[in-house]
Amino acid sequence: MRIAVLGTGVVGQTLAGKLAEVGHDVMIGTREPRAALARTESPNEWSPAFGAWHASHPTMGVGTFEEAAAHGETIINATSGIGSLDALRSAGADNLAGKVLIDVANPLDFSHGMPPVLSVANTDSLGEEIQRAFPDAKVVKTLNTVTASLMIDPQSLADGDHDLFVAGNDAEAKTRVRDWLEAWFGWKRFVDLGDITGARGAEMFLAMWLRIAASEGYMVNVKVVRPVALS
Ligand SMILES: NC(=O)c1ccc[n+]([C@@H]2O[C@H](COP(=O)([O-])OP(=O)(O)OC[C@H]3O[C@@H](n4cnc5c(N)ncnc54)[C@H](OP(=O)(O)O)[C@@H]3O)[C@@H](O)[C@H]2O)c1
Repeated sequence: MRIAVLGTGVVGQTLAGKLAEVGHDVMIGTREPRAALARTESPNEWSPAFGAWHASHPTMGVGTFEEAAAHGETIINATSGIGSLDALRSAGADNLAGKVLIDVANPLDFSHGMPPVLSVANTDSLGEEIQRAFPDAKVVKTLNTVTASLMIDPQSLADGDHDLFVAGNDAEAKTRVRDWLEAWFGWKRFVDLGDITGARGAEMFLAMWLRIAASEGYMVNVKVVRPVALS
């Protein structure tokens, strides 16, 4: 499948690298390809510099957000939550229309220091903002509640008996995304949060996730315990 991964940070790198490894034709999107490829200094302690990462993945396609979105049959939004709407506007509504848009972003605002706060919450979410801005895209919110390396390796990096949330208006798109996440990365357990308003819960979970990660480390996820079947 031709896949656009919008985002050059650790999430974009991790998802694009794995998707190419399992045989997909991936293009990474960025605001300015030449500037992104020239980066040799890590922006933060958890993101390798994109130029250094690309040097070890030299065949990975890199283009503008628009070029990548035109390339992809499926789009993954792995941009900073604060910049996601601008990034997707640059990608172009026509390049998103009719396609599944997997939104892994969190609307984290670091401008007040650590821990970050959510720039949208309670009665709205980034997933909904994206769906409203691009009504012809099939937005599926998922993967935003786990750290990048766990996204692509849920079975060996943490006990495989844990859950991933999905939310979106298009039931068929959600089913396809679940099937893909199982085939690409090995995800087996999902909790369907319903329509795209379910993104509110998935994004607000970040406040809890940050506290759990501070206590237990980043390689954590939740397991939803189901009722015991009564005989
Ligand atoms: N880090 C994790 O483990 C993790 C886990 C779950 C979810 N997430 C979410 O995944 C997303 C990506 O996280 P990340 O840590 O890989 O990278 P990030 O630093 O949050 O985002 C980097 C990407 O955002 C783009 N960007 C930043 N500001 C922009 C703006 N104003 N307009 C357009 N694009 C802009 C950058 O474009 P350029 O390429 O042009 O610089 C870059 O591609 C975030 O929303 C994050 O909350 C992260």
